Amino acid sequence: MLAITDTEFEQIKKIMYARTGVFLKPSKKQLVVTRLRKRLEQLDLEQFQEYIHLLEKNQGDELEFFINALTTNETYFFRHTKQFNYLYEKILPELKSKPGREIRIWCAACSTGEEPYSVAITCQEFFRHNPGGRYSIYASDVNSDVLSFARTGQYLERSFKETPPNLTTRYFSQTENVAKVRKEFVIKQNLKKNIRFMQHNLLKPFAEKKIDVIFLRNVMIYFDNDSKSKVVNNLISSLSPGGYIMISLSESLNDVSSPLTNIFSGVYKL
Ligand SMILES: C[S@@+](CC[C@H](N)C(=O)[O-])C[C@H]1O[C@@H](n2cnc3c(N)ncnc32)[C@H](O)[C@@H]1O
Repeated sequence: MLAITDTEFEQIKKIMYARTGVFLKPSKKQLVVTRLRKRLEQLDLEQFQEYIHLLEKNQGDELEFFINALTTNETYFFRHTKQFNYLYEKILPELKSKPGREIRIWCAACSTGEEPYSVAITCQEFFRHNPGGRYSIYASDVNSDVLSFARTGQYLERSFKETPPNLTTRYFSQTENVAKVRKEFVIKQNLKKNIRFMQHNLLKPFAEKKIDVIFLRNVMIYFDNDSKSKVVNNLISSLSPGGYIMISLSESLNDVSSPLTNIFSGVYKL
């Protein structure tokens, strides 16, 4: 049976931290085994030490497989709904009042796409009721598997637990999968065209600047203070003056020194 020693776990932890800023707590030891077991079997490796050598040599796409296996990607549409209401009621009206400018939003740890599609639906609804204006959304993640999933725009019912049914009807077409055992929902093309999915590691500066709103939700919980500071500073360098950063309700920026002011639940302003 595959097992991991304390030393091997420490080495895995170190590689993950250096590559992504994600800090694996001691309680994650078994999770590491569970998530990497299949990969070691595929590679015909019997011990973690052999796998660690492979990662250290950094050949092929192994680091990508490794990062994809160890990131946690839980998400759903309209998670923390009141932040989407705040976007609709306060932020979008303010940004729309600056004429001639496209509104630029970035979901910086977008996972399988539910968050950027929820942002797109919110913008679409806003401009339906307040015509005249453009928006674009960047959606990035370090994990290439979740990005491939997000690009398909195809979801199961479990992603919709917080979605108002009228929005599901308006923005998704419903299908049944081949075996007719579960419903699938496909995002409509007119919503997809405003979103650019791309791979990006938050430890590095983002190429796009002058972003109006950045969503950085449910990812800092995996970082220690050093990674958090690095990431928040990178984000600030991409933010427009007066721009917003949204974090989740279980996160805080209290322990990071920054020029941001907390103005609403999980909403910060530059
Ligand atoms: C729990 S999901 C959050 C999804 C969404 N923001 C939400 O709140 O529902 C966390 C995401 O952060 C991504 N992530 C972790 N470390 C990252 C890094 N260094 N750069 C970019 N994304 C990262 C993971 O791949 C994962 O998809």
